[in-house]
Amino acid sequence: MQRRIRHASTSAILALATIGAPAMAQADELAPTGRWTAYEGGNAELPPMGWNSWNAFYHEVDEEKVLASAQVIVDSGLAQAGYRSINIDDGWWLKRDTADGRMVIRADKFPSAALADGTTSFRPLTDRLHAMGLKAGIYSDIGRNSCGQTFGHGNPNNPQGSVAEREVGLYGHVDQDIALYFGDWGFDYIKVDGCGIRGMGADNPNVQNGTYRALDPLIDFDSIARTDVPAVKSLFAEVGEALLRHNPDGDFTYSLCIWGAADVRSWFGSYGNLSRTSEDIAPYWGRLLHNFDSAARRALYAQPGNWNDPDMLFVGTGDFDAEHMTEARSHMALWAMLSAPLIIGFDLRQANEEQLALLGHPGLVAINQDAAGNQAVLAYDTDEVQTLVKLLSDGSKAVALFNRTGTPKAVTLTAAQLKLVADTPIALRNLWTDKQSTFTGEAEFTLAPHETLVFIADGRRELEEGLYLSEMPGRIHVARDGVEVPQFDPQIHRAITPWQNTRSIGERPRYTGWGGARADSAPYGEGLRIAGQPFETGIGVLSGSRLELRAEGFDRFSALVGIDDSATGTAGPVRFELYGDGALLARSDWLGAGMAPAPLAADLGGAKLVELVVRRSEADDKPVPVTWAEAALVRAAASAGS
Ligand code: GLA
Repeated sequence: MQRRIRHASTSAILALATIGAPAMAQADELAPTGRWTAYEGGNAELPPMGWNSWNAFYHEVDEEKVLASAQVIVDSGLAQAGYRSINIDDGWWLKRDTADGRMVIRADKFPSAALADGTTSFRPLTDRLHAMGLKAGIYSDIGRNSCGQTFGHGNPNNPQGSVAEREVGLYGHVDQDIALYFGDWGFDYIKVDGCGIRGMGADNPNVQNGTYRALDPLIDFDSIARTDVPAVKSLFAEVGEALLRHNPDGDFTYSLCIWGAADVRSWFGSYGNLSRTSEDIAPYWGRLLHNFDSAARRALYAQPGNWNDPDMLFVGTGDFDAEHMTEARSHMALWAMLSAPLIIGFDLRQANEEQLALLGHPGLVAINQDAAGNQAVLAYDTDEVQTLVKLLSDGSKAVALFNRTGTPKAVTLTAAQLKLVADTPIALRNLWTDKQSTFTGEAEFTLAPHETLVFIADGRRELEEGLYLSEMPGRIHVARDGVEVPQFDPQIHRAITPWQNTRSIGERPRYTGWGGARADSAPYGEGLRIAGQPFETGIGVLSGSRLELRAEGFDRFSALVGIDDSATGTAGPVRFELYGDGALLARSDWLGAGMAPAPLAADLGGAKLVELVVRRSEADDKPVPVTWAEAALVRAAASAGS
């Protein structure tokens, strides 16, 4: 009897729990958390800087080449400038020892790896790099096989042995491999590629001929619908957890490399330190445009600890070689402005003084490494010329004027683009010439083909006692951007891929992110506008979104909110909510399309984390573009006066 009662009450509790759980999940996916939910593991408060073997040597990597580049980095002063991580890419592995699962290094290429007991270890090499004051990086794949095995068929430096011995990727070995690479071998950085979960399906010719085991692809690069996003996320989460486990001091960098696939834009910030935003860069101009574009409109998705990675530098090669210093300077300047990782991909033994000076340019490195961690925001955006502005931690602004075309372009820089007042002189320092100048209102420049001018600008701010949210993307984490059905971003330059030339059907949009949260732009690229009123500054996002904002040092939030005029059909109503450390501070009425911008403001009362939530009405069958116009954080002096 007693048993029966106990049983009955347990099932009653279970029933309650099951009724409660889905209801809660459905009820409030936008509930404030009161905390910063971005991935805070690892050591990537600033964009990583270093060198990687791939763009210089591809699969022909060896110890001599790695150490030679490391030596140039030290001798040239580049290490001192911040380039510390020496990263070995694909090509280092010989096989997995199937007796104990331990990875075996290609000791013919890395002689110091051969130990007296017949095993191999990278410890002698990482010790050597550490003794040089550098850090060491390794490369793996989230699947069973590497990119070289998946796509570089027949490469002589691919792993050798039986099918099982050639399974060098992390799949099924995460804990063992991460323990080996970080615990035993002493690496500090890992790049985790994704080819093994992309191209090892039954149709891969080397699966068909029995060289590799099939792994049903989780990523279909050409179809997000055929990509298993949750499965991809869970594999990368497993690696992130293993890294924490095997690096008790937290000193590691976790670089995800799935090239903008699997909707990684929307989740990498909660999983790792870096995320590749596109397929591989190549040493020619069209590819630079492609890779740059894949990150340039994603400023809100980067913040200290989590950075957009448009791939490694190609300064030194092809269109960026010693004969093309205008292009090389643009490449370096743009990567600096994007807060991209600065990872040199050049055989530095071949570098001349001018190239070394460009890589170590103190002004550009300082822009890239600025502590505020703001990725530049596009203040002017066309296919021909773009103006990028990046707020630095001392209050000045880095501004880059970028000519994408092969003809000279006249460019006007306005005070408004810098969010500085138009009636007070603005000081400019040209980072290429070190020349100082001033202008009031606007200034004219002529850009040579492919040229990028970079300045540090100082003037009187439009918002003297605070900052617009679009000036501080580094303080914002997009926890949910409201994108329900991920769509490919059509705004990315479509280049001829050198590995296919014009044999394919051409480069089609394939990186999701269309409709993502934007600084100073509506989600689908239009200007911000509510009820016919244009706004130069604000956050454009979809309804059904939640943004986290670090508000330390500020006292009040204010914005004008409403449905953006880029909404189509019968959109809304929507409601805007503002939370401070998890508690509701203010909320708008339900606002319909075409309604005038509504003020939404609140004192923060000491709250450190502000959350911006936009709720959808139940009737809405799709998310609606909304605008947090002129959204700003201000300090007490200003709010007291207003
Ligand atoms: C992929 C990556 C490259 C490089 C190669 C190595 O293509 O995107 O950066 O690591 O694999 O095979």
